[in-house]
Parts: sequence; structure tokens; C-alpha cells
Amino acid sequence: MQIRLDKYMADAGYGTRSAVRDLVRKGHVTVNGVQVRTPDQKIDTASQVLVDGTQVFYEEISYYLLYKPAGILSASRDGREKTVVDLIPEPKRRDLFPVGRLDRDTVGLLLITNDGKLSNRLLAPGKHVEKTYRAVVAGDLPEGVEDRFLAGLDIGDEKDTAPARLRILGEMSEEQYLDCMRQHGIEEENRMASLKEASPRLSEVELVITEGRFHQVKRMFEAVGCSVIFLKRISMGKLSIPEDMKPGEIRKLTEEDIGKMS
Ligand code: URA
Repeated sequence: MQIRLDKYMADAGYGTRSAVRDLVRKGHVTVNGVQVRTPDQKIDTASQVLVDGTQVFYEEISYYLLYKPAGILSASRDGREKTVVDLIPEPKRRDLFPVGRLDRDTVGLLLITNDGKLSNRLLAPGKHVEKTYRAVVAGDLPEGVEDRFLAGLDIGDEKDTAPARLRILGEMSEEQYLDCMRQHGIEEENRMASLKEASPRLSEVELVITEGRFHQVKRMFEAVGCSVIFLKRISMGKLSIPEDMKPGEIRKLTEEDIGKMS
């Protein structure tokens, strides 16, 4: 594979693109034994690149957008169970991991990469990266629930949740719910039977949160007396699931796509 020398070196951890360009221009770099001074020249990834005589070990930085299907574990590898990384069509990539986690029954946007810096940036609590979820919620949403989400909720943690924006999109019929389940390949016979007994109201909602606490969305709705019966993440930062993407589909992202996230 051909790649620009400055990208090759930046991916290998030799600093920012401008720092590595400087190293090249000042004559610190050789490619296959020949001194080079043009940082944007293309080289083969199998080339031997030395900086002041020390070999550079290149690791391709990859990004995948997965429309996570239900029933799959959000982890790198698991001895027993299929994970989101097992869905990536590059079986030898042991370096990939998901950025954050979605519950086994949650579907939607999951970024899979080997870029630890990006992952830290997106998950750091101080960064407040917005995560948008669509959910189907069973039960009566109390009057003024949007304000309660905005004010912060006690979900049993040390601190209340940070302000979250809730939008009630409307009521959902049983048929619409079952259709949504079918589209996501989720078997819902059992849950539907128990729902029918209680005959709760089903609502479709959209929620934007900036934290990533364990089961956060489900616990927020529990705190107002409702339960989440379907959960899908539709965006993280400025990256959204494309309209034409289907559950289980994976797309390789470009650096430009990733640039949109921060
Ligand atoms: N909140 C949840 O409750 N579950 C998820 O998978 C993600 C956010």
C-alpha cells in the first residue's frame, strides 16, 4: 500500500504532521537507505524508514463505523462470545477496539479503531461529546419530563446526571414497535406478551447526553418511572449513522469523516 511519508510517520507516533515534515525537510529521514527531504512523497508501507538511524514501526490507523446489531458484545475479543470487533472483515487486526460500549441489546453507531488518542478524546468526561439516542419507552412519561432531564436526574450514582436534552417524538403503536424490532432482527414475542398484560403507552423519544455512564439512558428513564424497550444510538459528536446504512453493516471511514467528530 502507498502512503504519504508524513502520514506514515505521524501514524507511527513521530508527532504531528507538521513536526514530522520538519524532521524530513531537515534531512533526518531515510527511506530504503536513501535520504529524503519531501514529506508529501508517497512511499510503500513495506519500506524501511529510519529517523536518525532508528527504524520507524508503522501501524495503520483504521476507523470503522459499525451499525451495531442487537445481541453482540461491545468488546475487543472474548474467548466465548462474538464481539463487535469480530464483525470487522480483517481477522488479523488484534489492535482494534470499540470506542465506548453499547449494551448487548442496544443497536446503532459504534466506532471501532486502533486510534487510542481519538478514543480518549471522545470518551474523556471533560470533553462533553454529545451522544444522541432514539428510544422506545414504555410507560407514562410524566408531565415536565424534559425539564427533569435538563435539570439532571438522580440515577443512584454519587452525582446527578449532567443536563440532557429530551425530545418526545410521539406515541408509537404496537405494530410500529414490532416493525422496528423486525427491521433490527430482534425477536420480540416474549416482551410483547408481557407488555400487552400491562398495556403501557409506548413513546418514541430522542435523547442527547454528554456522559457515558453504565446503562445511563435506561437508568434515566427508570428514574422517571418508565422503561426503555428499544435503544439505538444515532450519532456521536458530528458523526451520524448514514440513512442508507443497515443494522450489521460496517463502513471504513476516512480521516475526513473522523475530522468531523472533533
Ligand atoms: N445507555 C444505555 O442504557 N445503554 C446503552 O447501550 C447506551 C447508553
